[in-house]
Amino acid sequence: MNIQIVSDAKKTKHDLIVLPFFQGQDIAGIYKKYFGGTLTSPLSSRDFKNKIGRTQLLYTAGDVPSRILLLGLGEQSKFSFAAWRLAVQTAMTALLGLNVENVLIVMPVVKASEATRYLELTAFALTFGAYQFDQYQHATPDEKKTVPNNFYILSKLKGRSANEALAAGQLIGNSANEARDLGNHPANIATPSHLAAHAIALSKKHKFFCRIMNREDIKKEGMGLILGIAQGSSEPAKFIILEYGDKKQPPVVLIGKGLTFDSGGVSIKPSDKMEEMKYDMAGGADVLAIFGAAAGLKLPLHLIGLVPAVENLPSGTASRPGDVLTAHNGQTVEIITTDAEGRMVLADAISFAKKHYNPKLILEYSTLTGAVVAALGNQLTGFFTNTPAVVKNFSDAAKLTDEKFWMLPLEDSYKDQLKSQFADMKNVGERGSAGAITAALFLQNFVGETPWVHFDIAGTAWTTQPKPHLAAGATAWGVYLTMEFLRNL
Ligand code: BES
Ligand code: MN
Ligand code: ZN
Repeated sequence: MNIQIVSDAKKTKHDLIVLPFFQGQDIAGIYKKYFGGTLTSPLSSRDFKNKIGRTQLLYTAGDVPSRILLLGLGEQSKFSFAAWRLAVQTAMTALLGLNVENVLIVMPVVKASEATRYLELTAFALTFGAYQFDQYQHATPDEKKTVPNNFYILSKLKGRSANEALAAGQLIGNSANEARDLGNHPANIATPSHLAAHAIALSKKHKFFCRIMNREDIKKEGMGLILGIAQGSSEPAKFIILEYGDKKQPPVVLIGKGLTFDSGGVSIKPSDKMEEMKYDMAGGADVLAIFGAAAGLKLPLHLIGLVPAVENLPSGTASRPGDVLTAHNGQTVEIITTDAEGRMVLADAISFAKKHYNPKLILEYSTLTGAVVAALGNQLTGFFTNTPAVVKNFSDAAKLTDEKFWMLPLEDSYKDQLKSQFADMKNVGERGSAGAITAALFLQNFVGETPWVHFDIAGTAWTTQPKPHLAAGATAWGVYLTMEFLRNL
């Protein structure tokens, strides 16, 4: 997919125009402004309710081109980055399968100070919206959905910053799509070894450091929680380490839960929807994608990425409820349920980060709890932090990327729920009592005073139902948000 800016619609060869318009705007007037010709269509406002992302394909006679995709933007006073992202991704869904090669997109008129960011967002949304995961399906040629080759963005902006914005949007969009791929691949393909191989390939492509610790290395390092979770599977655990940038600065450490499959282990999950637990590595995929994008954009930062990649299965060698494991920091943990495995592998990764890297900030992404889905559903990530100063930075970033979150408290008094009779702590709190919070408190025990944000993406990393603007499956929640956050650091 090739995306470029054009300044003159009439000089650009295209076979479809995407024409966005606000409620109450005169479509024929907009058309005339850009294309000079007269657009005659019997479309009335009664046929088309102008809501964000509504589309209507018009076949027009006479004036070229013959196809116009009207794109509703809703009320002009409520227009936002979020509205444009939704609209562009919905337009892309409408374009897939139309068999058009060259698409001209008219940019809506926005504030001059935001115009470049709207360009980046357009490139991101086109790339993200074109994503399809169909590599395991044999489609006949007429079933195959084709992505238009060329997008011409009609805009007054030009020059280096405009082109850089388009390139950045595409790069981040492609990185997010790679994370979606990792989440959508079945667990028999996307194993810990597969994640490790992907990390190595990424590090070669973008020239950053990558080291894979295998079982022996993990044992020598003393990461007993990771080993305890991994020991039920014949897929060997991999501890992925990435490093990018200026080693003289204290790093931002990105940690992602990399459970390539979570059956629950001996405390096995109910079979309903268990197949979705292949996305339990979505946090790890986020970290890999953020690294690719950050290195691609040459961010002037020092970044460490850590992904404990593990499979959680029951077997004759699996850990049992009641087992006591020793964590990397020396603390002992009693397993109450083997299904609370994410916090275990993350605890070792957090302790490893603190021992080796002196992090100035830990950002950690995990599909950690069903409780956060019960509390916040699939539109809001659970956001926890011991450093309230970063909340505004993430809120600002979310205005661009529309990845929504809601802050939940690290309620100190609930720590009592993690007291164990037999070890320093147990791996779960009371059943049905603030499960997302007690999981975060478990992690906080290992984090200590280091500035840290925990994103519980169990609800937002995956969508079961396809939506007009979003394919079903993995969503790469957090990739764009974090890129925007890191750029503004
Ligand atoms: N990976 C799951 C959390 C999850 C649930 C992710 C639903 C995505 C959708 C996690 O490992 C888990 O099993 N958590 C348990 C914790 C419980 C046993 C304390 C849960 O939430 O049920
Ligand atoms: Mn689990
Ligand atoms: Zn899990």
